[in-house]
Amino acid sequence: MNKYEKICEQLRLEPKTWLLTGVAGFIGSNLLETLLKLNQKIIGLDNFATGYQHNLDEVKSLVEKQQWGNFRFINGDIRILEDCQTAVKDVDYILHQAALGSVPRSLEDPITSNETNVSGFLNMLVAARDAKVESFTYAASSSTYGDHPALPKTEDNIGKPLSPYAVTKYVNELYADVFSKCYGFNTIGLRYFNVFGSRQDPNGAYAAVIPKWIDAMLKGDKVFINGDGETSRDFCYIDNTVQMNILAATAKNNALNQVYNVAAGEQTSLNKLFELLQNEISTLNLEKNTSKPIYRNFRAGDVLHSLADIDKAKKLLGYDPQYFVIKGIEQAMPWYISLNKHEYI
Ligand SMILES: NC(=O)c1ccc[n+]([C@@H]2O[C@H](COP(=O)([O-])OP(=O)(O)OC[C@H]3O[C@@H](n4cnc5c(N)ncnc54)[C@H](O)[C@@H]3O)[C@@H](O)[C@H]2O)c1
Repeated sequence: MNKYEKICEQLRLEPKTWLLTGVAGFIGSNLLETLLKLNQKIIGLDNFATGYQHNLDEVKSLVEKQQWGNFRFINGDIRILEDCQTAVKDVDYILHQAALGSVPRSLEDPITSNETNVSGFLNMLVAARDAKVESFTYAASSSTYGDHPALPKTEDNIGKPLSPYAVTKYVNELYADVFSKCYGFNTIGLRYFNVFGSRQDPNGAYAAVIPKWIDAMLKGDKVFINGDGETSRDFCYIDNTVQMNILAATAKNNALNQVYNVAAGEQTSLNKLFELLQNEISTLNLEKNTSKPIYRNFRAGDVLHSLADIDKAKKLLGYDPQYFVIKGIEQAMPWYISLNKHEYI
């Protein structure tokens, strides 16, 4: 039994009350599903800016009726301090996921990204500090590595941010650090690398690469690659991310007041990703488009290469990722196939 499995056992025996912000989003709804299945009590906060009621409905269909009864939803906004104060009442652990993701979104509308990701984050910190919440884990981002060229990325070596989104996520880390120094309030930041899995939205201008490409391949649409395809990412399957959140929430002592990379520690180029997705789809006899991808210009604000060093998470938190990119794609594919099934088959 690894440390994560032991903690899950312990949580089953002694359930806690958790606040999940951004609960209707991709990562939030996956955290909700896992924690409800562990019989935890959950308060969820979301304003449906980019999250969906159908994500919550899907989780409802995947858990037992009595487990769903342990969930209370608050339709609220982290930009409003009172909403945060209401949500943190009587909570043991906070997993703060609510934010406006996407580098291009932040380039188009830096003000709204800042209001949500910086002012909203500060509201959550203040509310959690005042309520003396035991632990506060927040979604940071690999975008904080910015223009630092070193690979793999280790937590202490960051560069200058390359987008407004990256600035907001770095400011989160600075505030969290200051709250530990000035108020003795403990936090953990999780620098997610490209997370993927079921319930990640394939639609819209700001969709992430994996859901967008799977959707296009299943529909027979064109797949676009920004740049020459040799841009690389460390794609992290959602179950690894859920594991890190639960390890972080229950961490003690010197593991606190740190930031950690959350990734698989595996570098995959976009060309390779295209090949892996096409192979998986053709294995399932669902291929509608065998054509080559269409290459276009690099996207502003994007980092060229990304690969995480995950040793710190392994050493201090006992992180034991179970999914590399191929296994994650195999796990996620049925969900994308079932989504709008009538369109694909
Ligand atoms: N998915 C990734 O690869 C990735 C990578 C790095 C960091 N992150 C971070 O992880 C977190 C979760 O990302 P995700 O991929 O699940 O995105 P998502 O868009 O699916 O989820 C974000 C959720 O936050 C909610 N939200 C936004 N603004 C809000 C507000 N003002 N008040 C209340 N709720 C609000 C949205 O409605 C949505 O449900 C975000 O903080 C994101 O920046 C994600």
